[in-house]
Amino acid sequence: MSLKASQAWAHLQSHAYYMSQSHISDLFEGSQDRFSTFGFAQDALFLDLSKQRITDETLALLIQLANERNLTDWINDLYSGKHVNDSEDRPALHTALRTPRDHKLEVNGTEIIKEVHDNLDCMEAIVSKIHSGQWRGFTGHSINTVVNIGVGGSDLGPFMACKALSDFQPQEAANLKVHFVSSMDGSQLADLLSHLNPARTLFVISSKSFTTIDTLANANTAKEWLKQSSNVASEEVLISRHFIGVSASPEKAQEWGIPKSNQLAFWDWTGGRYSMWSTIGLPIALKLGMQGFKEVLDGAHAMDTHFKETPFEKNLPVLLAMTGIWNINFLNINAHAILPYDGRLSHIPAYLEQLEMESNGKSVTREGSNTDYSTCPILWGEVGTNAQHAFYQLLHQGTESVMCDFIVAAKRYHNTDNAELQHQHQLNLANCLAQSRILALGDSVIEGADDAPVYKRYKGNQPCTTILLDELTPTTFGQLIAMYEHKVFVQSVIWGINPFDQWGVELGKKVATSLLQALGPEAKEKQFDNSTQGLLQHITKRNA
Ligand code: F6P
Repeated sequence: MSLKASQAWAHLQSHAYYMSQSHISDLFEGSQDRFSTFGFAQDALFLDLSKQRITDETLALLIQLANERNLTDWINDLYSGKHVNDSEDRPALHTALRTPRDHKLEVNGTEIIKEVHDNLDCMEAIVSKIHSGQWRGFTGHSINTVVNIGVGGSDLGPFMACKALSDFQPQEAANLKVHFVSSMDGSQLADLLSHLNPARTLFVISSKSFTTIDTLANANTAKEWLKQSSNVASEEVLISRHFIGVSASPEKAQEWGIPKSNQLAFWDWTGGRYSMWSTIGLPIALKLGMQGFKEVLDGAHAMDTHFKETPFEKNLPVLLAMTGIWNINFLNINAHAILPYDGRLSHIPAYLEQLEMESNGKSVTREGSNTDYSTCPILWGEVGTNAQHAFYQLLHQGTESVMCDFIVAAKRYHNTDNAELQHQHQLNLANCLAQSRILALGDSVIEGADDAPVYKRYKGNQPCTTILLDELTPTTFGQLIAMYEHKVFVQSVIWGINPFDQWGVELGKKVATSLLQALGPEAKEKQFDNSTQGLLQHITKRNA
């Protein structure tokens, strides 16, 4: 049945008509304790939906919609290894990557959890060799710098996690620097290489496919740099000491030159943007130690269990997803700001941009028809306090409705006596609470606002979610990210789309190949549209 033909959809539409007349501040006035009605706790995570434009009836109807879309069956299919990625005819088993060793999951005759833990053991051996100084570069010195070369899912998750959890670097990893390079133009790598000691640098080439041109171009530049800055004649020796490949295509990695002994594998059933829990997480394990990485996995597993076993009425990913559906499909809000009030989470907006927009930025259903409803909104974000001095003007007084996620840790700096730092945390918390308050309630939060000139007024009514962590730790971080992953899955089920493929990124790769030829000496005249042709000629002249 099509989404719009479902009963709950029709009810939600008439409910939305009525709700669109009310302001979030009216909802607070009409209820004594919205916070306990729309606040949901799970382990060290608290989800406050009270500043959403919802009532009990809204949530009940949204849950009815989830049921009509057979969400429970879809969740079971996801966890059990059914081919939920239908266009690529394979499962999406990222939940298996964080399942404890003593569990069992057999898919097509393979014991998946055992394979996952065998891989983690290989990863642990490499981590321990590097941390203990036994991994030696071409001069015999130990490694003190790791550079992860990857892009998209082979970069964003580990990059985000290493930044978020750097407070948790254990003693054995204290002397190891972990860097990330992704940009195709070589600018990040060129900057970095000039500061690195080739003899003590290890490159991790992370690529599920091992065909991504961005990553291979950076890997080739790194290899050339090593060749030029060492007196080692043999490329094999240099690669074996200075390169690790992490890939689901071991043959391709080997073709590039990385021997099997320097490879960590994962599986095609691990989607790129769902892969930081796999061996793609090697930089995380190098930064946090294997124990820290396992705590991230444990946190994610706790969220997996919660998502699978908790009634929808109390299920954090389901509630997060369904309030999103309400905003997007019934209140017509198509912009979503991700606002971490924590500098350690500065990379979470970029991570969620890929997770959400590459997963659900689609307009064709699993059945192959065009959707007649909106799907993934435009996501962007920034550390909240910085964004206050940048784009919050639009959130407060612009013409667009924007839903906002505030992410913040209640506790910070409790291990330091630095009173100034503790004060900074209080300042940060105050700003987080102030902004969500004004965005939702408008200037009704202060007295006398009515008397202000119109250009000083704040209309509010922007729906805000606050995700409050007791504290940012490897475990709560794992929970937080897994909650967003499941949220994306729930929304895909409602919209009837496959969140695990990304066909929309393929054409750009092909067209770039023909343009690369056009930039070379064999360029043909009039091969492209007039604008592209003009730009090519301009570039050629400037390079002459
Ligand atoms: O081009 C998009 C994409 O395929 C993403 O889905 C993926 O995370 C990224 O490129 C990197 O791919 P790979 O890990 O195969 O290099």
